[in-house]
Amino acid sequence: MTATRSPGPALAVVGATGAAGAALLRILSTRADLWSSTRLIASSRSAGRRMAVRGAETEVLALTEDAFDGLGAGDVALFLTPAAVSARWAPVAVARGVAVVDQSAAFREDPDVPLVVPEINGYAARVRPRGIVAGPDCVTAAMMAAVGALHAELTLAELTVSSYQAAGAAGRAGTDVLRRQLAAVAGAELGEQPGDVRRAVGEDTGPFAAPLALNVVPWSGELREGGWSSHELAIRAESRRILGLPALPVSVTCVQVPVVTGHSLTVRARFASAADPARAREVLEAAPGVVLVDDPAAGEFPTPADAAGTDPAWVGRLRGSLDDPRSLEFFVCADNLRRGAALNGAQIAELIARECA
Ligand SMILES: NC(=O)c1ccc[n+]([C@@H]2O[C@H](COP(=O)([O-])OP(=O)(O)OC[C@H]3O[C@@H](n4cnc5c(N)ncnc54)[C@H](OP(=O)(O)O)[C@@H]3O)[C@@H](O)[C@H]2O)c1
Repeated sequence: MTATRSPGPALAVVGATGAAGAALLRILSTRADLWSSTRLIASSRSAGRRMAVRGAETEVLALTEDAFDGLGAGDVALFLTPAAVSARWAPVAVARGVAVVDQSAAFREDPDVPLVVPEINGYAARVRPRGIVAGPDCVTAAMMAAVGALHAELTLAELTVSSYQAAGAAGRAGTDVLRRQLAAVAGAELGEQPGDVRRAVGEDTGPFAAPLALNVVPWSGELREGGWSSHELAIRAESRRILGLPALPVSVTCVQVPVVTGHSLTVRARFASAADPARAREVLEAAPGVVLVDDPAAGEFPTPADAAGTDPAWVGRLRGSLDDPRSLEFFVCADNLRRGAALNGAQIAELIARECA
């Protein structure tokens, strides 16, 4: 059910019952309330379920044409749904005049859909030829606030990234299979024979290319030309778009790790001229959405366990390259559900809501 309408835009959260949707509802309770009402939408499986929005019990509606009744120009629908669902239903919301923010992969490559990380290119959300704004992949989102701030100061010339991706980026399917696998390996004799983990886990690899429990898997996405994965190429393309650097050399290696929440990345950034680590520290300390935790002598650096449940991108291990005075190396951790999806979407929705204020 929708609360009684008061002045101001309404927000529809499509995919409210998912992993990113649950994170979004927690985030909404901590942010300025710009919304006259909040409508929760999910699949018919969840219709009638009640969830708390800012402490108010709200009934989940099934995603049908009727779910958008009463919404129109000035309102926002934030989609946290699988790409196929966003592709099918975002245009339905747009046809009602509703501005759509979509955090799936459905529209990220569409040149008529701005791809936005609010800290870096929030201005791009104002021009919406299709009525839709997209948020990037959660790995791209994890590093953009830090990389974008350094680029603004030092002018980026090349980006080399390795990801250490949490299972939760694959939604409930990812975390469910990791938990089952961890239970299966917990009591098994492991470590003496090659393939022990595979035998314990069996065929149950879920959305991952190999067993994830007690393992790392250097693959995510579909195979593309030259041995690259679709995910690696997407992060490359998205980084170029968000930074406004269409020819930037970007090389990405995606690795899945047995972490439930919190992506980590090693980043090597080469700049147009010499990059002073001390100046880079100052830039990162002032960068919106970034927290620098970098004191290895005191054992202080970010880990995904610390980043889980938080909003910032945490940066540490900042070093000047040993071989190239123009390059910096650093480590980033961010909550894939929050910074990677829900927070980014909420911030874009708020930018749109404030356009009419
Ligand atoms: N998880 C992350 O870290 C992350 C990060 C960045 C972007 N994303 C993107 O965000 C989106 C959601 O991810 P998630 O991890 O939250 O997935 P999830 O946990 O599987 O949740 C999916 C949500 O979509 C709804 N849904 C599924 N099929 C539907 C249908 N046919 N009609 C209407 N609603 C449907 C589900 O409703 P029911 O509960 O009723 O099934 C649920 O609310 C995906 O596009 C994902 O790629 C996720």
